[in-house]
Amino acid sequence: MRIGVLTGGGDCPGLNAAIRGIVHRASMLGHEVTGIHEGWAGLLGSGNVSPLTSANTAGILHLGGTILGSSRTNPARSEDEMREVEENLRRHEIDALATIGGDDTLSVSAKLSERGAAVVGIPKTIDNDVPHTEWCIGFDTASQVVGDALDRLHTTAESHRRVMVVEVMGRDAGWLAMVGGVGGGADLIIIPEQPVTIEGVVEHVQRRMDARRFSIVVIAEGATVEGTETIAAGGRVDQFGHAQLATRGIGTRLAEAIEARTGVEARVTVLGHVQRGGSPSIFDRVLATRMGATAVDWLHAGRGGVMTAAQGLEIVPVPFGEVIGHHRPIDARFYQLVRQFVLDEEPVAEG
Ligand code: F6P
Repeated sequence: MRIGVLTGGGDCPGLNAAIRGIVHRASMLGHEVTGIHEGWAGLLGSGNVSPLTSANTAGILHLGGTILGSSRTNPARSEDEMREVEENLRRHEIDALATIGGDDTLSVSAKLSERGAAVVGIPKTIDNDVPHTEWCIGFDTASQVVGDALDRLHTTAESHRRVMVVEVMGRDAGWLAMVGGVGGGADLIIIPEQPVTIEGVVEHVQRRMDARRFSIVVIAEGATVEGTETIAAGGRVDQFGHAQLATRGIGTRLAEAIEARTGVEARVTVLGHVQRGGSPSIFDRVLATRMGATAVDWLHAGRGGVMTAAQGLEIVPVPFGEVIGHHRPIDARFYQLVRQFVLDEEPVAEG
């Protein structure tokens, strides 16, 4: 069997570890692997593919990014492009696919699978918001980046008696803000699932300033603070319909509003793509290796149409139908345990 591998959507640390895991397991089972370049774009036109071997994937385990490149190309926008993808799978004699991506890449995988292709999806995103998997590749590393940044910001915040607002990624879910924020000792964490008011934020910050005279506020880029004026997300909308949330400037708006209402100096740090770069943590390397190897095992056994999901200590198959179109907001039990760091104006219900 020849297995095609692609990485789609925003990159993250651990993608190369997954590619390597796939190649090693495939060669152990006597299969070949073809690398598809730049996500689904590599299956359009006449295709942009090349063989992946144990030799040319040696030494990539610890490298961030993806040796295959990535894109937000969405062939599912048109029937012609979906046919082009299928034609390229035939042309390059690719019998099965392992697709590494977030909800967008997985949604294309699901459509191809419905049309008869053998596809196993592997979840990756620093947002950690793919349903049914406790962990997505890249999330552990990114939350460490947030935690490290907060450690650094603490010392300068304390020296200058300032409020430090830290804007982190997170389109729909506050996983990165919550885990990075709790681990890094934030005083207040604002997540997309839980809109807050500027009055609530100011009151919280004021109390903290009275007690400690500095404050660290973490806010996810997709969060809402009623009473601050964010601009609509702008930039170029990608092929899946997503605008660039960073252009909303929520962190900057929040820092301005806090300073105006409290009189305390506030500064903003937007962590941006730093969160997606660098070397993967050991956890992400091992998760990616396990998911990559498991995907090959399932394809070897003739099983497609599923995603590798980390549940407890197992990697289990979850049908695409249960993943696509669903969301994974912050876990309510985790939220309840750490809600002293959020503004519980409208508490997230325990599920
Ligand atoms: O989807 C993952 C993510 O990191 C989001 O948190 C963020 O909004 C987006 O990617 C940014 O993507 P881009 O690389 O296109 O700026």
